[in-house]
Order: sequence, then structure tokens, then C-alpha cells
Amino acid sequence: MTSDNDRRRGLLARLRGRPAARSRGRRRLGAALRLIAALTLAGGAYTVFAPGVQAQENPPLTSAAAEGKALFDVSCVTCHGRNAQGVEGRGPSLIGVGAASVDFQVSTGRMPMARQEAQAMRKPPVFTADQVDQLAQYIQELGGGPEVPEGDLRRGADLATGGELFRINCSQCHAFGGGGGALSSGKFAPSLRPASDRQIYAAMLSGPQNMPVFGDNQITPEQKADIIAYIQETLKHDQDQGGFNLGRYGPSTEGLAIFLVGLVALVFASLWIAGKS
Ligand code: HEC
Ligand code: HEC
Repeated sequence: MTSDNDRRRGLLARLRGRPAARSRGRRRLGAALRLIAALTLAGGAYTVFAPGVQAQENPPLTSAAAEGKALFDVSCVTCHGRNAQGVEGRGPSLIGVGAASVDFQVSTGRMPMARQEAQAMRKPPVFTADQVDQLAQYIQELGGGPEVPEGDLRRGADLATGGELFRINCSQCHAFGGGGGALSSGKFAPSLRPASDRQIYAAMLSGPQNMPVFGDNQITPEQKADIIAYIQETLKHDQDQGGFNLGRYGPSTEGLAIFLVGLVALVFASLWIAGKS
């Protein structure tokens, strides 16, 4: 009896359920098809009406940066790679180094580097000032980073403060007279004499090689102006007192040298006199 009832209930359920299930399935299929159609339509419409989708991943370069990219693709890709991401064992990535670094490296002729060397040397620049700006603009638009401000970089400078800041921050490597000096493992801090205002500013912002970065938090733009003015107006225009000097190592060094040379001369003189008699 119970089994009979069960069978009947099962049959009823199947009779009721089957068509219901079938129509639900059909409805689902229809919905899916409509969804796909809608998506295709929306996608198509998007591609038609938004031609910039491709460009959004690589934002378009300004014309100056595009000129810079053209120069870069000829002179720099071999070492710094396509899109400046760097080449293992040849040159570092330039993403995020900023216009300041390019400005410094290219305007001082360090880049393009001729060959692998311990330290890129200052050379007569390969590019004109406009081309340097274009290269810098390209790297800036690729990855951002510090930029040298426009305008007078010595405005309102105070020479005394500049001298103090120079002695605290720069003289341990570049020497008190700015003549430069040796660092460890064959590297050296160069003389500051050939550097322009812009190059000094860019060097502080980018910290080439072993030089630390002096960001605007450590040395404010006003203090940078003080330092630049001190280097350009005091160090470079220091009146030479005449006579021999030892590359401005300072009065003590020069006095010591004269003392030693004099002493040796006296010893030889007395030996010579003793030999004669
Ligand atoms: C022969 C290989 C070579 C070529 C060509 C070359 N570079 Fe470099 N570049 C290097 C190496 C190596 C360094 C790192 C050494 C150094 O800092 O002295 C470097 C460093 C730099 C830096 C400093 C990166 C930083 O961390 O601040 C900049 C900017 C730069 N190069 C730009 C350029 C540009 C622009 C060109 C093309 C005009 C160029 N380089 C061509 C090898 C090269
Ligand atoms: C730890 C040592 C060190 C200190 C401190 C240092 N520098 Fe340098 N500086 C260097 C080195 C090394 C170079 C060479 C980088 C290269 O050739 O890529 C350099 C290069 C420069 C140049 C480029 C010279 C040229 O060829 O035109 C300038 C300008 C400069 N430094 C300014 C400064 C100033 C200003 C300060 C202080 C605020 C300073 N440096 C502090 C090590 C130092």
C-alpha cells in the first residue's frame, strides 16, 4: 500500500516536475544567449565609440617626449632597453629616475656612455640642449621622478649659508675648494668647475653614482640655490693669490710641502758642502 502510494507520488512529481524543469532550462538558455548578445553588442559599441582603449595603457606622449623617444631609440636602447626598463649587465632601468637624472647625465656628456667603465666620464655632450630636454621629457613621461625647476636657480641666494651647507654636505667628497677627490675602488668625485647651475641642481636631485641624493627634504630648493651660488660665485671666482699651489689643498698642506721640500734641500746642501771639504 505504502509502496503503491510512493510510486504514485513519484510519478506525479515526475509528471509535474519534468515539464517545469524543461521550461526552466529553456529560460536559462535564453537568458544566457541574451546576455552574450548584450555583452557582444556593448563590447562592439565600446570599441567603436572609444578608440582610445589601446592608448590608455600607454598614455600618448607629448610631441617633445616623442622626439625624445626617437633619440632614445637610436642612442640609448642598446644599454637601457625598449621603454627604458634596463638591460641586464648593460644599463639600469630609467623608470622613475626623472628628468633631472637625464638632464645631468646627458648634458654633462656622461651619456650615452661609450663603453662599460667603472664610472661614466664627463665628455663634450653629444646632444644639443633642446635634445637633452626632449630625452628628459620622454623619461619623465614614462616613469615620473624629480625634475629641475625652471628659472633662475640662484634667486635670493645667501653665499654665507651656501658655504656652510657646502662644507657640511659636499666638501668631504668634492674637497673644500670644489676640486674633487678620490673615493674608494677607483671611483672619484669630480671637480665642480665645469658644472652649470642646472647641472649642480640636477646632481643634487639625482645623486649620480656614489653621490647621495639630496632631495628637497634634506636640502630645500632655497638651500640648493645658496649652495649653487657659493660654488659658482665664491669657489670658482676665488682670486688666485699667485705663485705655485697644490690644487687648493689648503694652507697647511702647502706649508707642509714647502717645509719638507726645504728640509730635503737643506740636507742635500749640507751633504754637498761636507763632500767638498
Ligand atoms: C654603453 C651603454 C650605455 C649607453 C649607450 C647609454 N647608457 Fe645610460 N647608463 C649606462 C650605465 C652602465 C649606467 C650606470 C652607470 C653610472 O651611473 O655611471 C647608466 C646610467 C644612466 C642614467 C642614470 C640613471 C640613474 O639611476 O640615475 C641615465 C639617466 C642614463 N644612463 C641615460 C642615458 C641616455 C638618455 C642614453 C642615450 C642618450 C644613455 N643613457 C645611453 C649605460 C649606457
Ligand atoms: C659621497 C660623496 C659625495 C658627496 C657627499 C657629494 N658628491 Fe657630488 N659627486 C660625487 C660623485 C662620485 C660624482 C660623480 C658622479 C658620476 O660621475 O656619475 C659627483 C658629481 C657631482 C657633480 C657633477 C660634476 C660635473 O662633472 O659636472 C656635481 C655638480 C656635484 N657632484 C655636486 C655636489 C654637491 C653640490 C654636493 C653637496 C650638496 C655633493 N656633490 C656631494 C660624490 C659626492
